Amino acid sequence: MSEFDPPKSGAASMLVRGGEPVHGEIHVRGSKNALPKAMVAALLTSEKCRLTNISAITDLGVVEELITITGGDVHHSNDQIEITAHSFTELSETDVVRLHATSRIPVLTTAVSLHRSGRAIIAAPGGCEIGPRPVDFHLNVLRAFGARDSQFENHIELVADRLRGARVRLPFPSVGATEQFLFASSLAEGNSELTNAAIEPEILDLVAVLQKMGAIISVEPNRTIRVTGVESLHGFDHRVIGDRLEAASWASLALATAGEITVRGVQQQLLSTFLNMFRRAGGDFTIDADSDVLTFHRARRMLRPLALETDVHPGFMTDWQSPFVTALTQADGVSVVHETVYEDRLGYTDALRSLGAQIQVFTECLGPTRCRFGAANHRHSAVVVGPTKLHGAELSIPDLRAGFSYVIAAAAAEGESLLHGVDLLDRGYSDFRAKLSAVGIDHR
Ligand code: EPU
Repeated sequence: MSEFDPPKSGAASMLVRGGEPVHGEIHVRGSKNALPKAMVAALLTSEKCRLTNISAITDLGVVEELITITGGDVHHSNDQIEITAHSFTELSETDVVRLHATSRIPVLTTAVSLHRSGRAIIAAPGGCEIGPRPVDFHLNVLRAFGARDSQFENHIELVADRLRGARVRLPFPSVGATEQFLFASSLAEGNSELTNAAIEPEILDLVAVLQKMGAIISVEPNRTIRVTGVESLHGFDHRVIGDRLEAASWASLALATAGEITVRGVQQQLLSTFLNMFRRAGGDFTIDADSDVLTFHRARRMLRPLALETDVHPGFMTDWQSPFVTALTQADGVSVVHETVYEDRLGYTDALRSLGAQIQVFTECLGPTRCRFGAANHRHSAVVVGPTKLHGAELSIPDLRAGFSYVIAAAAAEGESLLHGVDLLDRGYSDFRAKLSAVGIDHR
């Protein structure tokens, strides 16, 4: 007998029965944060582009729709996508506002639209509920390339003749603004330089795609990217890197429940900072000779507490934080967490408390870095006291990574949990329910 009403068939709720270690194997495909950017790159040419290792995530649907509306063709089959943007019509204000409300990706088409039509519109960006996520860095990058903008109530219009090469310094190594710079500079007239650039593996994968298309880009020491603009770009064939965020999520599930999960399809090198933390916390792993089959398990009965600070690459990723911290509720002692990338990424701890976790959130910087959120009084540090026995609860999922953390907590908890809004997980975890079954989680 369940203490909750079972979710109706097709409703976005899920009942999870926890308390058992998970065991099984899953295959992780193309990275959620690399794939859509490679699809946007395909808009820079009218030639055919082919992407393989595609994952079935709903975030791709937004980009597919965007490509189709602008006049391109998208053919999706099995694990590959072919895109031909033989013509390009700029998005209407209505489409921009609608698409931007569902995802962070459409803003990345701004430089592309300026190249291909001389005009672009940016709307208030959407995506996960993890802080306001402004677009000021993007705008400043585009202005440096010569785009002129006019601000309206719900959108910003940009116009430009040919973009001209520019020197830009980012106030923070933003992933999106670095991608905007790459799209703008690849076809701009002359040389460009970006300092304080993001150098996440997903960015390097985009650089690889653009290089295949004919771009001239060098990623240099000290977060500097130099680009020599070219007249035109051509089609490409590219296998997208595996999703290191998803891999770390399943690894954290194995750690929290003292189970064992084999993850195929992500290179060890993409996870090295995570792997060090995993081992420090009392987990361990084996890795095959090709370095893309990793088996995660708990190496000791009691996990060790940690001091953890998120950072841009090569630091500990902000997207790894909530699943890993959920596992730390089972560590023997006090863990300290400092989130320095997003100001509002500890909201999930309220839900974990309702399952019995002991977590307190602070506005102070509880870590070695004085980050920009301390002075602004954002609740961005946490203290986790463990180990705590978790029990089932009813939870509503607010965003993608928090959602996976609730699944981890529910799997580690005694009894049943009812999770609402699980369809949010489909944005970034392909075949999510099938994978839960593959690792033996009792859910319906
Ligand atoms: N920021 C600004 N102004 C801007 C742009 C960013 O202030 O114009 C700030 C943000 O508010 C944030 C920080 O800069 O505090 C970093 O943001 P960044 O631009 O690096 O993030 P993003 O490009 O919007 C991508 C991923 C996120 C991931 C971050 C950091 C995609 C679609 N999203 O976001 O992924 O957390 O980089 O690595 O690639 C997720 O997968 O769950 C996710 C949220």
